[in-house]
Amino acid sequence: MTFPNGFLWGASTAAHQIEGGNVNSDWWQREHGHLAGPPVEAPSGDAADSYHRYREDMQLLADAGLTSYRFSIEWARIEPEEGFVSRAALDHYRRMVATAVELGLTPMVTLHHFTNPIWFARAGGWKDAGSVERFARYVEHALPVLDGVELVCTINEPNMVAVLADPDQGFPAVGLPAGDPLVTEHLIAAHRRAVTILQAAGKKAGWSVATQAYQAEPGAEEVTEEYGRSREHVFLETSINDDWVGIQAYTRTRVGADGPLPIDDDAERTLTGWEYYPSAIEDGIRNSWQRNGVPVYVTENGIATADDSRRIDYTRGALEAVSRTIDDGIDVRGYLHWSALDNYEWGSYRPTFGLIAWDAATFERHPKPSLGWLGSVAKANGLLEAAQASL
Ligand code: BGC
Repeated sequence: MTFPNGFLWGASTAAHQIEGGNVNSDWWQREHGHLAGPPVEAPSGDAADSYHRYREDMQLLADAGLTSYRFSIEWARIEPEEGFVSRAALDHYRRMVATAVELGLTPMVTLHHFTNPIWFARAGGWKDAGSVERFARYVEHALPVLDGVELVCTINEPNMVAVLADPDQGFPAVGLPAGDPLVTEHLIAAHRRAVTILQAAGKKAGWSVATQAYQAEPGAEEVTEEYGRSREHVFLETSINDDWVGIQAYTRTRVGADGPLPIDDDAERTLTGWEYYPSAIEDGIRNSWQRNGVPVYVTENGIATADDSRRIDYTRGALEAVSRTIDDGIDVRGYLHWSALDNYEWGSYRPTFGLIAWDAATFERHPKPSLGWLGSVAKANGLLEAAQASL
């Protein structure tokens, strides 16, 4: 099973989840009870200290054979006060881009991955109509970071951002609650503004959508379509004029006549409590293609598990699913696994999604067998016997 020439093989991360010390962000403030929100099990703290150790992290990915790295830049560092742009923060992220390029990793840069600067949150966050203009200004400020970057993701999982905009909502454990309609409207407007700015600067712009593989039980097709509309379809339809769309999938949601159904008692669950369901990504890709027809990158896909052999099995199943969509003529251009490192899972460090573990006391990195496995798939540009035997 081989993939198209030039297919990107990579891993993804997000600033707040691995950098550490993101003190000027709304999440940090929530973690410490300074902003509204439910209590968290653990604060992000130093995370993996990837703010300083990014070279080592990228080197591990490149050495394994991967060809791409998706990471986010942190608005709360770049614009710590409204209108003050930190040249030092811009320089930091420019160095990250340069390092990726030097190591042969195609950088994909996300401009917004869940966290906001405190001042933005205090001004009403994404509920405030001014959020669109504020985000557009930040995108302009961030342009110098994007020298040498072709693929830019404006906003990670706007459908999740529309949920998280409710301060009482923690990171949802199972399923996706309905998002705030006003926030959805502002996110769509902010994305459109950002795409225009980025395209004028010669970038290929898109955003990444959390897809949930909404599967209709017989007779529940209309209910399922309606259920998915505000949670997913509206965001995928927004991508129609973009250069690409990022599809992110972890699990499925079966929907009956009365709405989503509980996970079967005998189903395998991952450390996030989600059903183990590797082909979720296939549903996400097909749903997107049908609604916008733009090229797809799998920008996140993975599993929280302490058993790395389940990670490999899950990923193999997901890649077989991706390959089926390519066989059907869908333009899928890359697979970026979530995540490069075990990371801060929005309130807890327990669910481990990483291809690389690290020591909480020394920050020493410990690549897992799954990193070598994915690297060998990348080198073969396919799921060949060789890649499977390298286990
Ligand atoms: C997010 C990541 C998160 C992952 C696993 C996605 O919703 O983009 O930040 O860690 O899924 O929950």
